[in-house]
Amino acid sequence: HCSAKLTPIILLLLDITPMLPVLEGVVMELQDCALPLLKEIIPTDKEEVAFKDLDAAILVGSMPRKEGMERKDLLKANVAIFKNQGAALDKYAKKTVKVLVVGNPANTNCLVAAKSAPSIPKENFSCLTRLDHNRARSQVAMRCGIPATQVKNVIIWGNHSSTQYPDVHHCKVNMSGSELTCFDAIKDDDWLKGDFITTVQQRGAAVIKARKLSSAMSAAKAICDHMRDIWSGTHEGEFTSMGVYSTGNSYGVPEDLIYSFPVQIQNKTWKIVDSLAINDFSKSKMDATAAELVEERDTAVAFLGV
Ligand SMILES: NC(=O)c1ccc[n+]([C@@H]2O[C@H](COP(=O)([O-])OP(=O)(O)OC[C@H]3O[C@@H](n4cnc5c(N)ncnc54)[C@H](O)[C@@H]3O)[C@@H](O)[C@H]2O)c1
Ligand SMILES: *[C@@H]1O[C@H](CO)[C@@H](O)[C@H](O)[C@H]1NC(C)=O
Ligand SMILES: *[C@@H]1O[C@H](CO)[C@@H](O)[C@H](O)[C@H]1NC(C)=O
Ligand SMILES: *[C@@H]1O[C@H](CO)[C@@H](O)[C@H](O)[C@H]1NC(C)=O
Ligand SMILES: *[C@@H]1O[C@H](CO)[C@@H](O)[C@H](O)[C@H]1NC(C)=O
Repeated sequence: HCSAKLTPIILLLLDITPMLPVLEGVVMELQDCALPLLKEIIPTDKEEVAFKDLDAAILVGSMPRKEGMERKDLLKANVAIFKNQGAALDKYAKKTVKVLVVGNPANTNCLVAAKSAPSIPKENFSCLTRLDHNRARSQVAMRCGIPATQVKNVIIWGNHSSTQYPDVHHCKVNMSGSELTCFDAIKDDDWLKGDFITTVQQRGAAVIKARKLSSAMSAAKAICDHMRDIWSGTHEGEFTSMGVYSTGNSYGVPEDLIYSFPVQIQNKTWKIVDSLAINDFSKSKMDATAAELVEERDTAVAFLGV
């Protein structure tokens, strides 16, 4: 973790032209943070400036759902955006660039960007499910009355949506001096198989309802966690959750999807944690979220062709 702590950063901030005055405000706030490693900030509306020689790309800007907008039209607008950004990465960024897609629908946008950047390995594209992962970890920790650091190996499977499956069957909790399974620590299977899952699945909506704005601080923290783990690796014996490219060889998830899996990272390379036992309860939830992604991919790929 030492090298990441010493690496100076140049931030290239891309937004659409009408938002440039707003972006100036973001630049001011970043300057006012007096961040020790932030060497330079370059705000721009030009892809050839924003994507030039990138080591890391965080794709946040997408088309939000507007009143009365059909799902298909929303997807079509996002396919256009992420096709463009994939092509710009292909043209201007380093071939080793690590791309994190945050803008929703994050999984499918990530797949579109990867497909539109054929010269960059698909493994270098991932989408954010770390926020869901952190939410799950925190729900378990609060229930046990311990810090979230004492809960490890929760898993988010599938789409970053309400069909995602937050899974605690491999989660370990350090409580009262020993390492317990999550089920032994919480002693309430009904909660773990019911309200726990729906709370994590619906958390984004709950935050919007309360704040009248979507998650911002927690999403930014999750983005930092995700990128830091790519750069510095995961801890021995621990895994995290990331939406990554499925080759069809893990857990029966169809190929050619960006699906959230448990991953371990070393030397800036992730590997799906492949040998976990999956019971019928988990399998049906993993399949349901995969089916949703297959349908969305097929619609998106049809738009990509035109
Ligand atoms: N995966 C996750 O866990 C997660 C978490 C939080 C937010 N999100 C998603 O991230 C996205 C952004 O959320 P937000 O709250 O920051 O929204 P926001 O509207 O505050 O910010 C989005 C910014 O992107 C810009 N933008 C739009 N289209 C662009 C384009 N083509 N090129 C460059 N910039 C463009 C907008 O002008 C705006 O400044 C949303 O889709 C949101 O649903 C995902
Ligand atoms: C998958 O999740 C995204 C949020 O990232 C959501 O917008 C989309 O509708 C989901 N896909 C389907 C097919 O429901
Ligand atoms: C587990 O928790 C105890 C306190 O309950 C703490 O002393 C110990 O360091 C923790 N172990 C790990 C691996 O974090
Ligand atoms: C780490 O990855 C780089 C680039 O892929 C490779 O050249 C190097 O040999 C790897 N190092 C180790 C220790 O695996
Ligand atoms: C990204 O691609 C490079 C090769 O260009 C590879 O060495 C590296 O492991 C990939 N990164 C990830 C996160 O898989």
